[in-house]
Amino acid sequence: MTLKPRLSKDVIGNEVENAATIPSRYYNDPELYKLALERIFARSWQFATDTDKVKEPGQIFSWMCGEGGLNEPLMLTRDEANKLHCLSNVCTHRGAVLIAEDCNLKQIRCRYHGRRFTLDGQFVTAPGFEDVCNFPAQSDNLPSVPLETFGKFIFASLAPAFSFEDLIGDMRKRTAFLPLDKSYFSAEHSRDYFVNASWALYCDNYLEGLHLPYVHPGLSEVLDAKNYTTELLPFGSLQIGGANNPKDAFDLPKDSPDYGKSIAAYYYFLFPNMMWNFYPWGLSINLVLPLAVDKTQIRFLTYIWDQSRMAQYSPADIDQTEQEDEVVVEAVQKGVRSRLYDRGRYSKRWEAGVHQFHQYITKSLDVD
Ligand code: FES
Ligand SMILES: [Fe+2]
Repeated sequence: MTLKPRLSKDVIGNEVENAATIPSRYYNDPELYKLALERIFARSWQFATDTDKVKEPGQIFSWMCGEGGLNEPLMLTRDEANKLHCLSNVCTHRGAVLIAEDCNLKQIRCRYHGRRFTLDGQFVTAPGFEDVCNFPAQSDNLPSVPLETFGKFIFASLAPAFSFEDLIGDMRKRTAFLPLDKSYFSAEHSRDYFVNASWALYCDNYLEGLHLPYVHPGLSEVLDAKNYTTELLPFGSLQIGGANNPKDAFDLPKDSPDYGKSIAAYYYFLFPNMMWNFYPWGLSINLVLPLAVDKTQIRFLTYIWDQSRMAQYSPADIDQTEQEDEVVVEAVQKGVRSRLYDRGRYSKRWEAGVHQFHQYITKSLDVD
């Protein structure tokens, strides 16, 4: 038996036709998993929520960014001047989490020792600190985190490795014809899935259409394989699913780069872990949230703008597709543990997005 060789980081190659996939330790090694949380996730843009959750001055939305993996307590606040902020949700005194539930407040008060902050994160008072030197200082304010919006959708990043526009510029332009701001969140059609596989394996699977006829017979009836294309973006990729039947297609405006084509879906992958899937009836956002080296939560959030078109490739069909994907992705996780497998090659026609994603992973982790 030959043991897996250890390979250097540039080994995946810049040209898809010459390259080989990332070594399987990228899916198995707990140290690489931890490194990915710091070097990939902590430097990425993550979806927070939509503006409906922080509409009024005083409203606060708190969440654990990357719960289970990154675990960063953050909050969105709308101040008196109607300005939106993303702040650390951790008190600058001894580290208590400040806001546990969504609420509407004039000031934030820590429930541990009563320290107060304004809604833009400025320190106000701290009981018992009257005779403390050099106090308060800048470090007593709540750290503020970069925040960006795409329509009604809000994103935050602890320390962005790339600009938000580089991430979503193409998506913003190409989906400008859709009534995103009129869409509403549907809890009924949203749910979480738990997959026994690495977050990166789950993304790999999303990034190629090669498996569609084998894994998703139902979806393959909707999509036209001849008109399935992949476009690489600066920090992600776009797969366009051509429609087999014009009734499944978008009504595209004349200024769309795709005008005249019959398109059933735009599948945007945004580095490192977000999928934004646009259908004629609405949007399915999939957040890939690592929980452990081989455990991943997938949060499906559904936003609807045209209920009348939901009969075509609806959330029920999406659920079916997801379950079919989970079966293969979990099987691959077992396969990449094999002592007899380390890596494979890419299909140039179908797997350019996977190749680009692997390059991004190896460059971000920067290990030998
Ligand atoms: S931890 Fe917040 S006031 Fe002490
Ligand atoms: Fe799939």
